[in-house]
Amino acid sequence: MKLILLGAPGAGKGTQAAILAAELGIPTISTGNILRAAIKNGTPTGMKAKTYMDEGHLVPDEVIIGIITERLAESDCAKGYILDGVPRTIAQAEALEAAGIRFDHVVSLEVSDETIEERMSGRRVCEHCGASYHIKAVPPRTEGVCDVCGGKLVTRKDDAPETVKNRLAVYHRETEPLKDFYKSRGVLYPVEDMGSVEATSKAILAVLK
Ligand code: AP5
Repeated sequence: MKLILLGAPGAGKGTQAAILAAELGIPTISTGNILRAAIKNGTPTGMKAKTYMDEGHLVPDEVIIGIITERLAESDCAKGYILDGVPRTIAQAEALEAAGIRFDHVVSLEVSDETIEERMSGRRVCEHCGASYHIKAVPPRTEGVCDVCGGKLVTRKDDAPETVKNRLAVYHRETEPLKDFYKSRGVLYPVEDMGSVEATSKAILAVLK
């Protein structure tokens, strides 16, 4: 199965991708996580991406297309994968199509901007493995500590309120047009936010079946 999780920043793509990956037995590919790891490791790609990410802008298409093409060629992607945060522009979607990749489902997580802004202010992420939490909705077992790897939980720099507003504007301008792109290919499945992580997972799994 080849699946895209589409949605605004903070819509819950990473949270749902982790649940679906365990349920479906296929890997999640998150360009955000790949870029954050590159920044942490001080690679040339990371250094190039950092300024864009800190300000809530998109990283240039050619950088993303290079990263994703390389990652999808790895052996763990042979049976399928879940894309989280990519494609994010029509150019990226066209590049995937030009590489002969066809998707079975493009699930668009529909969450209002107001809910997004509230969620981002409470998000904490593991600085080691990238797992995502929310101080109220998805708290870790021990405050400030990742359930998965024991890493320290931190606030992402791009979750600052002004940067979130910018990321939402970028989403509506650059990424939302992908809904029409995939609708025209007959694979778009909008899923409304169900108010809890578990209920939203159920709604997505119902669509996939
Ligand atoms: P990226 O890391 O992909 O960020 P994003 O798309 O902005 O999405 P987020 O990771 O912020 O949110 P999410 O939808 O995964 O939500 P989450 O599950 O964490 O990208 C970061 C940056 O990298 C971009 O701005 C850009 O610069 C660059 N980039 C990455 N990919 C790129 C690309 N393809 N092209 C160009 N540039 C690219 O959930 C959010 C919070 O809500 C959490 O606290 C969670 O616990 C909570 N939550 C989740 N679901 C629920 C629920 N149902 N109810 C209550 N709380 C919930």
